[in-house]
Amino acid sequence: MESALTARDRVGVQDFVLLENYTSEAAFIENLRKRFKENLIYTYIGSVLVSVNPYKDLEIYTKNHMERYRGVNFYEVSPHIYAVADNSYRSMRTERKDQCILISGESGAGKTEASKKILQYYAVTCPASDQVQTVKDRLLQSNPVLEAFGNAKTLRNDNSSRFGKYMDIQFDFKGAPVGGHIINYLLEKSRVVHQNHGERNFHIFYQLIEGGEEDLLRRLGLERNPQQYQYLVKGNCPKVSSINDRSDWKVVKKALSVIGFNEDDVEELLNIIASVLHLGNVQYGDEEGNACITSDTQIKYLARLLGVNGTVLTEALTHKKIIAKGEELMSPLNLEQASYARDALSKAVYGRTFTWLVNKINASLSYKDDSSKTYSVIGLLDIYGFEVFQNNSFEQFCINYCNEKLQQLFIELTLKSEQEEYESTSITWEPVQYFNNKIICDLVEEKFKGIISILDEECLRPGDASDITFLEKLEDIVGGHAHFVTHKLADGKTRKVMGRDEFRLQHYAGEVNYNVNGFLDKNNDLLFRNLKEVMCMSENNILNQCFNKEELSDKKRPDTAATQFKASLAKLMEILMSKEPSYVRCIKPNDSKQAGRFDEVLIRHQVKYLGLMENLRVRRAGFAYRRRYEVFLQRYKSLCPDTWPNWQGKLADGVATLVKHLGYKPEEYKLGRSKIFIRFPKTLFSTEDALETRKHSLAVMDVVYLSAIAVQAWWRGILARRRAKQRRQAVDTIRRKKKKKQHLFVKGFIYRHKERCPENEYFLDYVRYSFLMKLHRNLPKNVLDKSWPTPPAALTEASEHLRKLCMQNMVWSYCKKISPEWKHQMEQKAIASELFKDKKDNYPQSVPKLFLSTRLNGEDINPKALQTLGSEKMKYGVPVTKYDRKGYKARPRQLLLTGNSAIIIEEAKVKQRIDYAALKGISVSSLSDGLFVLHVPSEDNKQKGDVVLQSDYVIETLTKIAICADKINSININQGSIKFTGTQGKEGIIDFTPGSELLVAKAKNGHLSVTAPRLNSR
Ligand SMILES: Nc1ncnc2c1ncn2[C@@H]1O[C@H](COP(=O)(O)OP(=O)(O)OP(=O)(O)O)[C@@H](O)[C@H]1O
Ligand SMILES: [Mg+2]
Repeated sequence: MESALTARDRVGVQDFVLLENYTSEAAFIENLRKRFKENLIYTYIGSVLVSVNPYKDLEIYTKNHMERYRGVNFYEVSPHIYAVADNSYRSMRTERKDQCILISGESGAGKTEASKKILQYYAVTCPASDQVQTVKDRLLQSNPVLEAFGNAKTLRNDNSSRFGKYMDIQFDFKGAPVGGHIINYLLEKSRVVHQNHGERNFHIFYQLIEGGEEDLLRRLGLERNPQQYQYLVKGNCPKVSSINDRSDWKVVKKALSVIGFNEDDVEELLNIIASVLHLGNVQYGDEEGNACITSDTQIKYLARLLGVNGTVLTEALTHKKIIAKGEELMSPLNLEQASYARDALSKAVYGRTFTWLVNKINASLSYKDDSSKTYSVIGLLDIYGFEVFQNNSFEQFCINYCNEKLQQLFIELTLKSEQEEYESTSITWEPVQYFNNKIICDLVEEKFKGIISILDEECLRPGDASDITFLEKLEDIVGGHAHFVTHKLADGKTRKVMGRDEFRLQHYAGEVNYNVNGFLDKNNDLLFRNLKEVMCMSENNILNQCFNKEELSDKKRPDTAATQFKASLAKLMEILMSKEPSYVRCIKPNDSKQAGRFDEVLIRHQVKYLGLMENLRVRRAGFAYRRRYEVFLQRYKSLCPDTWPNWQGKLADGVATLVKHLGYKPEEYKLGRSKIFIRFPKTLFSTEDALETRKHSLAVMDVVYLSAIAVQAWWRGILARRRAKQRRQAVDTIRRKKKKKQHLFVKGFIYRHKERCPENEYFLDYVRYSFLMKLHRNLPKNVLDKSWPTPPAALTEASEHLRKLCMQNMVWSYCKKISPEWKHQMEQKAIASELFKDKKDNYPQSVPKLFLSTRLNGEDINPKALQTLGSEKMKYGVPVTKYDRKGYKARPRQLLLTGNSAIIIEEAKVKQRIDYAALKGISVSSLSDGLFVLHVPSEDNKQKGDVVLQSDYVIETLTKIAICADKINSININQGSIKFTGTQGKEGIIDFTPGSELLVAKAKNGHLSVTAPRLNSR
């Protein structure tokens, strides 16, 4: 595996913190550029991943790549989205804290692709059972469905997400994905009825028209020609070269069935999509100033597809219901009002159907296990990036406000917390100034005084409120704000670039002019009451759920669109704040969606507004590099005789010993609470160089020659089968060209990077030959030895095959030599691994320690107690502590296991005998403590209730019980707490919390409280 830090010599630095000239924006961009040109699209700033959209398929997302990143430390491998995914997964598993991955960047920067890559990574690498496989499939298949209904071709991106998405992936205690939940944010509904030039409506319309089967289209009354539909012609862009609507249609249909849509669901959903197209084609005529529908063809289809009465629908599309003095009157609409009503209906129908779709997907993803088992979560946020168009409206206002909020979160969680880390570790650093955008968030969202409040007030107040009066109100109330300006308030220069109906916000990411036209309407998002009434009568099952009758009787005016959005963002912030965040900052390299083009101006702008330089400056404010003690020690321990091969003492002392040996000067580093901080990149580089040299000498030292003849025979055999032909050619070539060897060698070296050609043939063969010879001399000596020489590029695959074969061979000869005792030991260890690996904190500590056949010998047990066993043979005995069921007093006891029962004895007395048949289950915590509970039926009078015990060899003891009682599947590993039943059915609770040392005591709430030290940071 490539060492991350040696890659620095090849293409720039893979972590910006290692840039010597870290304050220079030019150096930053140059590093991005260098790497981008070499297809290295990922670079870190500490733990933040910067990703540049390559606009081409790179071979870096294969299963092999996934395997390479699985369980490997963040910094050991080159930067990748998989490393972020894996890191979050491992933190979730080991620290038991929910995670979230926030993906940001402007439209087309690659956010959605990144989120899909993360999801695929989990689907492939996480453990799976049949049930989990279904969930994995559903999680993956939710994407094409949501993209079909929520994405569209825009000028910036052929597959632009027109809604925000936050998705929770839920994992059970084994780390398997068992469910998911999606929250959607503000779909751009206006696109249903209007698209800018060069843009399209949502993909699903074109997919249905292009891909729908003939009889389906006939049933829906649709023609196979998007040009026929008013809602699809506005952008004059029915076809896009990068999109294949026909094949996408098939993908979507299949995805719908995976998610659990039956044929009826699909039919009803498509009825709605078709009805929106028909609605767009409803044409109005003018009858003395009143709108009337000129042809009833569309209405006939609409009535059938929507499941409503055609006459009632016609009336609702041309009239408005007014309630005057308690009486209902139908007032005719003029042409403009009627078109408005029709479009409002289309938007409402589509928008609500989209929300229904998300709910339906959520139902199919929901974690079905109804036992009270908790799950952990990784959230993925893929939400619209900052947008600036020629003409910016209400949608851009909301989207950019959302970005302000996310930037605020980034500041809170990264910039602020980073500096707080320095503070808390008492490390001196230079505070970094960054722009805190809270002032802009307040300008938008503050109660009473913020733009949203002012907009709402204009929407709600009676009288002649309009977009322009809203603009005037803004001027009155926030006119003096440093980040707000209008044409009227602006200086001469700004006026030239602003319309009279615009206001400008100075966002953290730049200035945006918003045109107020349509703000009130979009914020009100009203649908005439009689249209709502018609939809409530719909026989279409989906619409029936989308428009329910209660809405009609609800007198309270619904919250405005902006207020709803503000509330949903506040909730999102809460969700994100409660999790451990990781960041992916996506950058778009050019505006023309081209591979290989690096537009520096565009990129500089994104680097600026994503705050990447600030991020880097904070990261470097004091120290370029930091690592947790265990990671640092693990990597460099071979450089110091005192820490090699293992350091037994405290981690901090080990690191101190190591850096002292390496000659670090005091000003070069600081030791924090759990991390070492290194000030200069060069200190790290020289340590890394020392490691490279050391690795080489270790490899030489470690080589133990296997039997030369046997290995040669093996090696030749493999080679003969795998590469016979190539080798013959190589040997022939070598022989033939022996005389010209030197000359060819030099020439070959010069041509070594070219495709195979006569000039480099000899050289390439020579490289292969020498690799094989080197391998022959350096074969690993046992199964634990993972060393393997680095192959030349042409032999990567062969080398991998050989490595596997060599390992198989070693495993085979190892197995052959195993004694029966050792086999028994290994069988028990295998069961322990199955039961506790990655589930109980002190399991790793138990691995190197052998299981004993018993911890109590004959002389340790009172003879009377032994007598009571009668003919039953004791299979295992261990001293335990028993906790009283009342006061939780600790009592020393012995636990004996026989073929039939577990027996608890005190000196000569048998205190309790639990027949294995009556052993209901065994509970143990996931932490490092030794407590466990043997559960017995509460109705069994012979029993005195469940038994709470503690063993110093808990892994061994429980493995033995599981084997003797044949209860391998009855061991429950619990997080948080264990319930048990005491005498007379009384319930007791043991609470487990991680802490610094082991403490077992009765807590004030009457529970038994166990604090267990963290042993493993994994
Ligand atoms: N890692 C990648 N490898 C190859 N191509 C990519 C990658 N990331 C993005 N792309 C290309 O860029 C296009 C746009 O990416 P994506 O849809 O993820 O952008 P986005 O940031 O989600 O934009 P929006 O905000 O408009 O939804 C993709 O359709 C794909 O063609
Ligand atoms: Mg997207």
